[in-house]
Amino acid sequence: MSSLKVINNLTSANLELISNTLKSGDLVAIPTETVYGLAANSLDESAVQKIFKVKGRPADNPLIIHISNIKMIQEFAVDIPKNLFKLAENFWPGPLTVILPKSKNVPFITTGGLNTVAIRMPNHPMALKIIEHSQLGLAAPSANISGKPSPTTAEHCINDIGNKIKIIVDGGSCSYGVESTVISLVEDVPTILRPGVITKEDIEKVIGETKLSKYVLQKPSVDSTVISPGVKYKHYAPHAEIILIKSDINKFANYVNNLTDFSVAALVFDDEQKFITKPCFTYGLKNNYLSQTKNLFNVLREIDKTNFKTVYTRCPNSDGISLAVYNRLIRAAGFKVIDLDE
Ligand code: TXA
Ligand code: MG
Repeated sequence: MSSLKVINNLTSANLELISNTLKSGDLVAIPTETVYGLAANSLDESAVQKIFKVKGRPADNPLIIHISNIKMIQEFAVDIPKNLFKLAENFWPGPLTVILPKSKNVPFITTGGLNTVAIRMPNHPMALKIIEHSQLGLAAPSANISGKPSPTTAEHCINDIGNKIKIIVDGGSCSYGVESTVISLVEDVPTILRPGVITKEDIEKVIGETKLSKYVLQKPSVDSTVISPGVKYKHYAPHAEIILIKSDINKFANYVNNLTDFSVAALVFDDEQKFITKPCFTYGLKNNYLSQTKNLFNVLREIDKTNFKTVYTRCPNSDGISLAVYNRLIRAAGFKVIDLDE
């Protein structure tokens, strides 16, 4: 497909064009506050099929349906528990995705064959306008080629899939930069399947006891039954090998600076470049977790453009919002961690 249109303001003519494109079963990349999504009508099997094809996404990895008001949820989910309404009141629109039993309307292709469905109301004015105008629940995974970091700018989307879709809506760079927190309400105890900027502590204040799926921190074994198919796939993997190093900056610098290999680089926090004599990237301030979420995928893409073989990376904390950063980086690293304090 050659003629890509990049839209950066939602005039009524543009809204009409986007709605018609979605209604006719085509795809549109849209900005959200987390990452860019590759959107299609969630109830249109052949449109959803195109998402899997364009991304190269395994068919059993289910999609999130994006809605613009709470009433829309009835169309996609059944047996909705009270906790959903509590979460919605506190966190929607916002970076929280909730897993519920699916309604009959939702085709199995959208849910990767599951009887449950993921739903979220994004907090981005353009995304909300597009959903409202089209009156469609939009299935939208992150708009990257499967296995690449999620896109946080329109340019990232253009680089990944610009030659495969007709429209990209440019809403600037995403304010959070990591994907939404995913919580399942179909377990006995609500369970976080993917950490994001809405934390376990935030959620517990609203609905009480909440568990963290063990796969947030652990590598799933090949034969394990995983409740969120997304966790079993290798994610966010740059060409270079990423190795996380647990230690303070002095030991880190000492370790990395003494490597004789020319094909290595370092990935550290802002302001720490001065300690490093090797080529160096940064991913945000050490004590400002939101600056880390915002920068992480962009810097992984920058690293992708280079020929470094190994990138030694400062290990982020794993409390609060930084758990989201840790979770993405440990996957990018294929769970390789060196602990210099041991
Ligand atoms: O912030 C976000 O969530 C972004 C923006 C575009 O909204 N979307 C996103 O979608 O990250 P995606 O497809 O890249 O990630 C969806 C995650 C996957 O890990 C998937 O396995 C999980 O949600 N998921 C979706 N439906 C599920 C279900 N029924 N049960 C368990 N996990 C589900
Ligand atoms: Mg994704």
